[in-house]
Amino acid sequence: MSSPVDPETIYPRQWVERARRINWYHTFELDHGLVIEGEFDLRPHVHRYGFPDDLTGLSVLDVGASNGFFSFELERRGARRVVAVDLPTIAEHDFTPAFREERAAQFSPEERARHDESDLHGGFLLLKEALGSRVEHVGLNVYDLAPERLGGRFDLVFCGSLLIHLSDPFRALQRLRLVTGDRCIVATVYEPALGEAPDMRFVGAWDGIAWWKPSIACLERMMRVAGFTEVTRHATFELVSRSKRHVDPTVVLHGRVA
Ligand SMILES: C[S@@+](CC[C@H](N)C(=O)[O-])C[C@H]1O[C@@H](n2cnc3c(N)ncnc32)[C@H](O)[C@@H]1O
Repeated sequence: MSSPVDPETIYPRQWVERARRINWYHTFELDHGLVIEGEFDLRPHVHRYGFPDDLTGLSVLDVGASNGFFSFELERRGARRVVAVDLPTIAEHDFTPAFREERAAQFSPEERARHDESDLHGGFLLLKEALGSRVEHVGLNVYDLAPERLGGRFDLVFCGSLLIHLSDPFRALQRLRLVTGDRCIVATVYEPALGEAPDMRFVGAWDGIAWWKPSIACLERMMRVAGFTEVTRHATFELVSRSKRHVDPTVVLHGRVA
């Protein structure tokens, strides 16, 4: 957390202490120049996703929302209803079996519960409080998305940097399709070396939380087969993490439903 002024003069001490204990995924800029530094700063990239500037009256679903950088941005653009979905508990993450065992040996059940409370949900809830936001936060696996669990379909569904973490990205795309009323924006890591071949590279042994790196052509086909029409390539760019551990070629695809 960096700030030209003492954060405790802006937010209650308890809020600041809780914020300092969290491993932030997203970087946020709050009032009075207070910056929360996360692993990914999406501020320079947000224009590449192709979100409409004005979302007045629309409903929006942000799937795999993490700390909510996009949820809060989409609310700021006037959406009538924004729902942010992330895993109910980290135990539901599609970890590779070896990584799951490694984590079980490394962390006690109490430590895992603390992680869920702080890193998985806590950052989002703290930001929601600081921003006075009305975004709804729902613990739901992407594989379980269904209109009846979320109060209907959404005009705009966004799914950013999640497919790489799924063993079955096609099943997830089908679920995204089920809850899309009009438009779905998918941003994800792709494999440039595969060119235009509709292929995916298996990377499930890489770091325990990544499974497949598809070509853009593969993603387009999967989206079409999942039931999206008018699938378009909106942008490609490189997403680099603060630690430089991740340098991810990222594609943004837009899909409509007829
Ligand atoms: C890499 S972050 C991406 C955050 C944000 N969407 C973005 O584009 O910056 C992936 C998020 O998806 C969540 N996630 C992972 N597996 C999930 C699943 N099966 N269902 C729902 N969310 C999941 C993680 O907990 C994490 O918050």
